[in-house]
Amino acid sequence: MRTDLMKTPIIIDTDPGIDDVIAITAALFAEELDVKLITTVGGNVGIENTTNNAVNLVNFLGKDIPVAKGADQPLLNKLVSAAQVHGESGVGGYHFEAKENCTLLSSKHAVEELRDAILNSNEPITLVPIGPLTNIALLLKMYPEVKNNIKEIVLMGGAAKGGNMTPVAEFNMFVDPHAAKIVFDEQIKIVMCGLDATLQTRISTDDIKEIAGYGKVGEMVSQLLSHYDSPSSTENYIAIHDLCTIFYLTRPELFTGKRATVNVVTEGEASGCTITHYNEDGHVHVCLDIDVEEFRHEFIATFKKVNEKLEA
Ligand code: BDR
Ligand code: CA
Repeated sequence: MRTDLMKTPIIIDTDPGIDDVIAITAALFAEELDVKLITTVGGNVGIENTTNNAVNLVNFLGKDIPVAKGADQPLLNKLVSAAQVHGESGVGGYHFEAKENCTLLSSKHAVEELRDAILNSNEPITLVPIGPLTNIALLLKMYPEVKNNIKEIVLMGGAAKGGNMTPVAEFNMFVDPHAAKIVFDEQIKIVMCGLDATLQTRISTDDIKEIAGYGKVGEMVSQLLSHYDSPSSTENYIAIHDLCTIFYLTRPELFTGKRATVNVVTEGEASGCTITHYNEDGHVHVCLDIDVEEFRHEFIATFKKVNEKLEA
């Protein structure tokens, strides 16, 4: 049995976003993880919505985790959002109650909160970016000293093959390719949960119905997923990209991959493409395959457990 002392301290940088909400929820209830901070970025929808969604979600789950608002625009490009997939608000048709006098939202910028949280942590922090990498790039450029206390970066983004925004670019990389290049060029250990792995996740409509029976959180997740019109999902199955980062941390045996060096294209028609050169010395671990059935079981088990915890 793990004790509190053995929990992995993580910070989630996010643009909620339907699959972001699901990933954050799983992380906040995972026994293996200690979520220190949530930072928001403009991505799936604008920064006001992603921040409201993060704050309202943490309140809804009854957790006391600080949220800090970050960059509203990519470093150089103009924000391209994905409201067609996640809805105008970012959470489909779901309505989170906004709590009055909520104190979760920090008055400091996400980059400042990231710096403080990383430098003040006794243990090296694992960063979990599941949106465009704007905040993380700014952090590494403005406060390079944080690198000494980052254990690894486990991110959702990129693809060794293909894309979902263009034939060669995944959404998070496409939105801020310059930030992605800054992050991938650092010699920090990176785990890339890209489309190669995340598109293999297959949550069925029956799974979503089952989840709906697991209390208020199950209901919320199933309502969100009913709205999730991801172009990468097939008629009967949904791919839940961002959750892969959390399951990579809690159930690493579900993933297999290869070491690589990743070059991000920043200009032109291939902008956002993550050119993946496999080599044993590369500092990026690229997830290439997942255990599809175990992932499904873990997904259902996760929300069953969340409900049991909330009802206990
Ligand atoms: C990524 O893009 C966003 O729409 C999702 O939240 C995920 O982070 C998948 O390409
Ligand atoms: Ca996301």
